[in-house]
Amino acid sequence: MPIDERLFDRISKKRDILNSLRPFDMGAMHRLKASFDVELTYNSNAIEGNTLSLSETRMVLEDGITVGGKTLNEHLEATNHGNAIDFVESLVGKGEITEMDVLNLHALILDRIDPHNAGFYRRHRVRISGTNYIPPKPSSIPDKVKKLYEMLNMAGGEPIQQAAMIHMEFVNVHPFIDGNGRCARLLMNLYLMRSGLVPVIIQKRDRKRYIDNIIASQTRGDHVPFINFVARCLDRSLTIYIDSLGGEDGNYITLAEASKYCRYSQEYLSLLARKGRIDAVKFGRIWKISRKVLEDYVREQNGRN
Ligand SMILES: Nc1ncnc2c1ncn2[C@@H]1O[C@H](COP(=O)(O)OP(=O)(O)OP(=O)(O)O)[C@@H](O)[C@H]1O
Ligand SMILES: [Mg+2]
Repeated sequence: MPIDERLFDRISKKRDILNSLRPFDMGAMHRLKASFDVELTYNSNAIEGNTLSLSETRMVLEDGITVGGKTLNEHLEATNHGNAIDFVESLVGKGEITEMDVLNLHALILDRIDPHNAGFYRRHRVRISGTNYIPPKPSSIPDKVKKLYEMLNMAGGEPIQQAAMIHMEFVNVHPFIDGNGRCARLLMNLYLMRSGLVPVIIQKRDRKRYIDNIIASQTRGDHVPFINFVARCLDRSLTIYIDSLGGEDGNYITLAEASKYCRYSQEYLSLLARKGRIDAVKFGRIWKISRKVLEDYVREQNGRN
């Protein structure tokens, strides 16, 4: 098992809690989806270089407002990504995922931005800036993507690992001239959702780690760091889902509130959170922690002293 045991346990528990909340409250689900889609769009596009902020992305997606000083393409990337998420969700209950589904997804990502290439495999060689990796030549793409379609439809393995490997396979083939990262992240989410899990958000602030892990997979054939990276993102998503959908464990409080319940200062709790020593989650810019996690941590520390 490539996934860290403690992390895997935590994910399994959270998945069970989330499942116990089904059927979800439709209103809460609707609100969650709205804010989650904005966060997903903001981060995926920011990784690619789009300069819209989180709140600007929200204005574009939710209110259809244009933002002064931002290019038309940056606006289109936001609305296109919003449409692409909806499309991916429409594929969750579908039978087989086909090549046409993936081409349609790509067509949505580059819609009105690059009509010549939207929905078509690349006809030229590409380089990935900042890396030495050279993706395969265009004539080999139709053959290479076959494995990808098989992976997208494969069932029975460990879904987090499988989803991460779909992402890796996709970026390695780099079938399109542009938009490969955004497609890869959405297809990874499609697989997670088809496996009964929730989508992950690779955050812009983790961009370096994300790319370093991809390169480690490529150069050393060591997929473990990337798979664990995806697992940590899933852990965070599960917490957000549980919190938004009203689970028992969803009793999340800010670190300022938490410091009132224990002898640790907000600053110290924040340090523990950043170092991953306590299972805190970042909601926007604010770290939060569940009361239960806080109580367990305090008890564990008291036991030591
Ligand atoms: N060394 C590498 N080998 C393979 N893929 C890589 C490597 N480095 C980065 N990548 C992937 O390629 C993506 C960039 O490809 P591309 O520009 O086609 O996609 P994008 O969607 O336009 O941009 P981005 O992925 O940055 O959002 C990165 O996000 C990452 O997923
Ligand atoms: Mg690009």
